[in-house]
Amino acid sequence: MDHMASSGAGAETVEALMARGAAFLGSRYAILGGAMSWVSERNLVAALSNAGAFGVIACGAMMPERLAEEIEATKRLTSQPFGVNLITMHPRLLELVRVSLDAGVGHIVFAGGIPPGAAIKAAKEGGAKVICFAPALALAKKLVRSGADALVIEGSEAGGHIGPVSLTVLAQEILPYMRDVPVFVAGGIGRGEMLLSYLRMGAAGAQLGTRFVCAVESIAHPNFKKAFIRGAARDALPTTQLDPEFPVIPVRALQNAGGRRFIEHQADVIRRFRAGELTKESAQLDIEHFWAGALRRAVIDGDVENGSVMAGQSVGLVTREQPAAEIIEELLQQARVALMEMQARV
Ligand SMILES: Cc1cc2nc3c(=O)[nH]c(=O)nc-3n(C[C@H](O)[C@H](O)[C@H](O)COP(=O)(O)O)c2cc1C
Repeated sequence: MDHMASSGAGAETVEALMARGAAFLGSRYAILGGAMSWVSERNLVAALSNAGAFGVIACGAMMPERLAEEIEATKRLTSQPFGVNLITMHPRLLELVRVSLDAGVGHIVFAGGIPPGAAIKAAKEGGAKVICFAPALALAKKLVRSGADALVIEGSEAGGHIGPVSLTVLAQEILPYMRDVPVFVAGGIGRGEMLLSYLRMGAAGAQLGTRFVCAVESIAHPNFKKAFIRGAARDALPTTQLDPEFPVIPVRALQNAGGRRFIEHQADVIRRFRAGELTKESAQLDIEHFWAGALRRAVIDGDVENGSVMAGQSVGLVTREQPAAEIIEELLQQARVALMEMQARV
């Protein structure tokens, strides 16, 4: 039976709508704490898992030894399941998979591109479940054929590196046609009502990032948290690209002096290229290197003027610092109330 046909039956609960996703993750709620480089380390990951959600460590550029240490430290803070997010272009990807498996991590999220077959195979043979990002329906199907056990569809509302399509559209393109594996939605979700509506469309659960940055347990610098509390949706914009000949990777972040300097930097590099002072390759590299280390500068050092303050559009819904468990309960409560109101109307 189409699960949507049961609406109005009165028996539908938020927990029931989340059952498939929660069973897949092994957590109480089908809510993933989206991995955020520098932010999603032991403290936030453990706090989210302890609160019934599913924390995910952001491996980022960590080397295998550092990742092993982070996993062990997280295990000391929680007995609940959590995952590891690995960036596919990491030069030691297979070793990172091995380290995660050796530590007993049950779920590996591959981000930043289509994962190599060998990495998916190694993860699955080691007993882990594989979660991949699907940017379109055709790729979603291909990823499932390649062994993905679950998918995340992330809309352009999200913080950090983004694709071009909003979750509103991705969800319509993918959710009705992809029922073989659980699909988690991400991007722009900051309240329970929104979570509920995607669950009722067939999503197995949701992945949130921005909403968790100001958790009390998050180690993000107070300046970083303050920028989130002050920030409005309209301040979280994708990187500006000056010239189609020199593509920049779109990243959604709060506007600051660094972003303005990046535009000037592109203009300067392109001028030097046109004047014959730089080759095309070195000009492109020069543009790409501008943001190196910039997220760390903002998250850890607190330099929110020059660093990269990656944030999604839901930043406008972040109004104060709160314990992770309170954020999770708030989301759940909003979803429950919205569902009850909906049921009362029929
Ligand atoms: C500060 C920040 C850093 C992020 N870093 C990563 C990362 O390292 N790897 C990744 O797969 N996603 C990263 N993301 C995306 C999140 O995992 C998540 O998918 C996204 O935040 C969901 O959208 P939302 O911000 O609208 O909730 C990052 C997001 C933010 C805000």
